[in-house]
Amino acid sequence: MRNSTTFILGFLFVVSLAVIGMMANQLKVSKETANQPGAPTETEAPTPQVAGITHTPPSLDDVPEGPLGEAILRGYELTNDTSNVLRAEAASVEDGEARVNALSCTSCHAGAGLEEETSSLVGMSAVYPMFIGRSGQIVTLEERINGCMVRSMNGQKFADDDEDLDAMVAYLTYISEGIPVGAELPWRGQSDMKDVPTPSVADGEELYQQSCIACHAGDGSGTGSNSGPALWGDESFNDGAGIARVSKMAGYIKNNMPIGAANTLSDQEASDLAAFILSQDRPEWGKHDKDWPGGGRPSDIMTKELRQQVKDGTVDWDEVLGKNK
Ligand code: HEC
Ligand code: HEC
Repeated sequence: MRNSTTFILGFLFVVSLAVIGMMANQLKVSKETANQPGAPTETEAPTPQVAGITHTPPSLDDVPEGPLGEAILRGYELTNDTSNVLRAEAASVEDGEARVNALSCTSCHAGAGLEEETSSLVGMSAVYPMFIGRSGQIVTLEERINGCMVRSMNGQKFADDDEDLDAMVAYLTYISEGIPVGAELPWRGQSDMKDVPTPSVADGEELYQQSCIACHAGDGSGTGSNSGPALWGDESFNDGAGIARVSKMAGYIKNNMPIGAANTLSDQEASDLAAFILSQDRPEWGKHDKDWPGGGRPSDIMTKELRQQVKDGTVDWDEVLGKNK
């Protein structure tokens, strides 16, 4: 008799827990989708791949105690303040400058990759390894981070066994919590203008002087990696970086700049600005000939030759933008 009462009570307890759990889960889902701008409405059936994938990285206040938590926080610091951290820890000033330029990952992946609209890094541990045409091979998350180190950061790779690389992977894995492997992330690859209007460098220069110098300085050298990063010159990204393509630079500017007034520039203005910025001198990537080994090299990579053509007045922007096909 006592045993069966315990059993029934236990059973009821388990059932009520499950019901509460289901209710809480539903509440969470509707709260999350309600916050999402492009969230499907009731009449619109959600596409299965996007359903449930929300940009809700866990808080850094909740990292676990112990070595893993320490690595995650170190990874955050390295991502958010890359140049200052790595240069401060280098053996000499020269070593620091060779190690990395004056940018941080945050210079392009705002808020250490936590901001959905600015090339967010949330979910990266769920999509890598993946095939990258530029490399012509399967690229791991470690290799992808190093890709931005040698191009966007115009610096040196982390060694395979560098604990800082592990820390960055730990951080990116932490902020990807809950995102299933292979998920299609709606916020990925958004800063890429599909149809770039033919630019005018002169108009871009004029607009730059009006709207951008407060943070990025008249000579493009910037005011700080997280307040106004260097857009050209020695301390900026090299011409092998993704953002050295007109389409990516124009898309980035349109979606994110000027800070506080994102999405107010027209496609034409963003294109003019991108053409102006990418026509200025910047470090060269030494291995252009090794990129895109399987073909499909984009025509809008602003290399030294193209910068020279802009100076000479011989550049054919429609060819650069692939409009002459
Ligand atoms: C000057 C701008 C810039 C800086 C600085 C930069 N990145 Fe990037 N990063 C980009 C762009 C642009 C892309 C997208 C490239 C593309 O679409 O092919 C990208 C892509 C990535 C990706 C892959 C994203 C995806 O969706 O596949 C990772 C991971 C990444 N960056 C990590 C980093 C890390 C870590 C740092 C700092 C060490 C860093 N980046 C610094 C511009 C930058
Ligand atoms: C109020 C300050 C501010 C203004 C004005 C501003 N930016 Fe930025 N810009 C930033 C900050 C801060 C970042 C770093 C990323 C972030 O926090 O979103 C950035 C990043 C960038 C980047 C990517 C990083 C790099 O080194 O290439 C580009 C390109 C850029 N801005 C272009 C522009 C252009 C073009 C304008 C003018 C239309 C502009 N910005 C106006 C503050 C500003």
